[in-house]
Amino acid sequence: MSAPELDSLKSELIDAIERAATLGALEEVRVAALGKKGRVSELMQGLGALPPEERRSYGQAVNSLKESVAAALEARRAVLAREATAEKLALERADVTLPVREGPLAEGRIHPVSQVTDEITEIFADMGFAIAEGPDIETDFNNFTALNIPPEHPARQDHDTFYFAEAPDGSRPVLRTHTSPVQIRTMLREKPPLRIIAPGRVYRCDSDQTHTPMFHQVEGLVIDEETHLGHLKWVLEEFCKAFFEVPEVKMRFRASHFPFTEPSMEVDIGYAKVGEEIRIGEGDRWLEILGCGMVHPNVLKNVGLDPDRYQGFAFGLGIDRIAMLKYGMPDLRAFFAGDLRWLTHYGFPPLAIPTLAGGLS
Ligand code: PHE
Repeated sequence: MSAPELDSLKSELIDAIERAATLGALEEVRVAALGKKGRVSELMQGLGALPPEERRSYGQAVNSLKESVAAALEARRAVLAREATAEKLALERADVTLPVREGPLAEGRIHPVSQVTDEITEIFADMGFAIAEGPDIETDFNNFTALNIPPEHPARQDHDTFYFAEAPDGSRPVLRTHTSPVQIRTMLREKPPLRIIAPGRVYRCDSDQTHTPMFHQVEGLVIDEETHLGHLKWVLEEFCKAFFEVPEVKMRFRASHFPFTEPSMEVDIGYAKVGEEIRIGEGDRWLEILGCGMVHPNVLKNVGLDPDRYQGFAFGLGIDRIAMLKYGMPDLRAFFAGDLRWLTHYGFPPLAIPTLAGGLS
């Protein structure tokens, strides 16, 4: 290749380099010139075939062509890289003056049943109660027989029980119809003095505006040598005052019947409805919120406790009921419908953890 031909190749390549609009296009130009089979590389490879006297000066010319091309490539690469960065920065610019998007902590809600369960456990824990638990699927013995409800007892009919299929050994598990089986589990496991509450889900085959097939109770059990009905009344009154956050509550203890307590009572709480607002401790409306009584001697015998030595009280409180009352939620079925709008309205911020010191609600 003559000197003018080298010059024209050089200006052709420099021109192509200047015209490359992207880093990708520039790379193509580089490969076509300096790549293994590139035009400049081929000239370099041809040098070996030349007679030594030509090789030196021609070699210098080709080498200077190569260097010029390499320098032009590098200069252009720097320009294109800077442009690409600028373009990327412009595209990905973050507007730091925009408001912060709400995270899950701000958007998430705790279900009122969970919140109220926490409020209840906080109050009873403060009175020295421990928290006990039992499974949703119970034995017939724990749910009924041990609670003084033998197989033919009519009280079984009141419970609208969900039964499981009979096992080969003839036993028939149930979805617990109340939290009272946790009384049995606790008394079988631990020795008195006992002071526990047991919140949890319970199930009855029943559904209308005030009943759902699954709902929530909290069981209370105190067993000691001198526990009496006065203690029961005091505990429930203190609980209601703390829960409803009022200095006085109106409570009505009505004689009732449960096979596992004697005597037995049902407790109503007095309230007034002013417009849509519910006021606890005023008015002349009553809502039943719990059943209670002194633990029946047969129950104590069933768990191996001597009824001449030990006695105590138990209660079962409807969590959903008192949640409706405290937070003015009219329809029980909405609790379990999974409607996000309902939860946004009635739910609690995740960090609003109820404490007696900080205020329950
Ligand atoms: N288990 C009873 C119910 O579900 C409530 C209760 C519990 C009554 C403890 C007395 C003592 O209706």
